[in-house]
Amino acid sequence: MDNFNFCRPTDFYFGRGVENDTGKVCVKHGAKKVLIHYGGQSAVKSGLLTRVQESLDDAGVAYVCLGGVQPNPRAELVYEGIRICREQSVDLVLAVGGGSVIDSAKAIAMGVPYDGDFWDFFMGSRVPERALPVGCVLTIAAAGSEGSNSCVIDRVVDGVVKKKGSNFQTNVCTFSILNPELTYTLPPFQTACGACDIMCHVIERYFTNTRAVKMSDELCEGVLRTVVQMLPRVMADPRDYDARASIMWASTLAHNNLLGADREQDWASHHLEHELSAMYDCAHGAGLAVVTPAWMTYVYKHDVMRFARFAVNVMGCQMDYEDPEQTALAGIAALRQLWGNAGLPLNFDELGAKREDIDALVANIGGPDHKEGHFVVLNKEDVRRIYQLAADYQRPQA
Ligand code: NZQ
Ligand code: ZN
Repeated sequence: MDNFNFCRPTDFYFGRGVENDTGKVCVKHGAKKVLIHYGGQSAVKSGLLTRVQESLDDAGVAYVCLGGVQPNPRAELVYEGIRICREQSVDLVLAVGGGSVIDSAKAIAMGVPYDGDFWDFFMGSRVPERALPVGCVLTIAAAGSEGSNSCVIDRVVDGVVKKKGSNFQTNVCTFSILNPELTYTLPPFQTACGACDIMCHVIERYFTNTRAVKMSDELCEGVLRTVVQMLPRVMADPRDYDARASIMWASTLAHNNLLGADREQDWASHHLEHELSAMYDCAHGAGLAVVTPAWMTYVYKHDVMRFARFAVNVMGCQMDYEDPEQTALAGIAALRQLWGNAGLPLNFDELGAKREDIDALVANIGGPDHKEGHFVVLNKEDVRRIYQLAADYQRPQA
């Protein structure tokens, strides 16, 4: 087990109706004027935004609003948010939405007290010394931004959309309000994308070269098994509270780094996916459903027994003691079947990606000597082969 520091001081409120206390929670954390940041229409249509506003009114917290965050959030709206927060002396950014809204809020919060361009924090040239506090009312279980130290933003640079992440302690939400009922209105496709993203956050940590990590291996498998079992339930009944609740808490636990603090982590699949969602503006979880099994197929020989263990302990496959490699491959097939059954794309065509773009995807990911991943360190040729596997995959005939 590696040495580690684990610090996630988020104040969580979980369960039915908790969003009605948003105002009180803002007061508890010292907010006097907040920026309510939200996405397209879902929070308006469901009445959630109005309820949050009423809760702030009741608690005597002033607010200004900025909606319009798009999935794969854009830098332009971040600049707008920074401007509003400065002009209006906002002291807390309240995200009402999913990962895109929360990340846009985090970027605004980083930018407000900083004299330079907030994008510096995404280019690796600066580390934020401070940020406004961010709170969230989560509406989709997926990205885990409600508990993570990450923030991912899209920006057009020289005519190309760049999707960049930043990982800082200042990105950790001050509070997160999680009512599983708020996810009842999700389109089935978004529910499935979210479940896939949650699983991938664990997969990025589970496939590691660090030894003697039994405690976190068991946690990883528990979170993965939970999503494997609950996903078909929410697809069948979107109002299954218990299944929604398990998936929502899994979203947080999968990515607040409880499961990975003690180990080397991979993240190649995520970085390959970020190039897909930058180029095609696809849902992050959908891109992962295409690229992660391709990555697994490419690297499983590095540690066949770990992949066999995943197959047995997570996907419920039978162990073939004569031929563990078959078990490893059966686990990858079972994962694709789970995601395919939930309506996720499994290859480039189904995602809307083009094989002809593979050169550009490989070029965008980094310079000629760029390396990806840790479980297996990949060079650019490896990356190309993984995209090719993802493009070539065909679903088995029913
Ligand atoms: O914009 P609205 O109308 O709200 O619609 C959204 C959006 O179209 C809709 N939606 C959300 N909650 C809903 C709902 N529709 C009906 N009912 C509800 N309750 O769902 C769509 C997707 O929302 P989005 O916020 O984009 O989803 P998600 O949470 O998957 O976030 C994806 C973003 O997070 C980044 C991804 O790259 C992507 O940009 N990630 C952030 C991470 C982090 N900060 O830790 C880690 C992840 O690996 C990921 O990279
Ligand atoms: Zn993700």
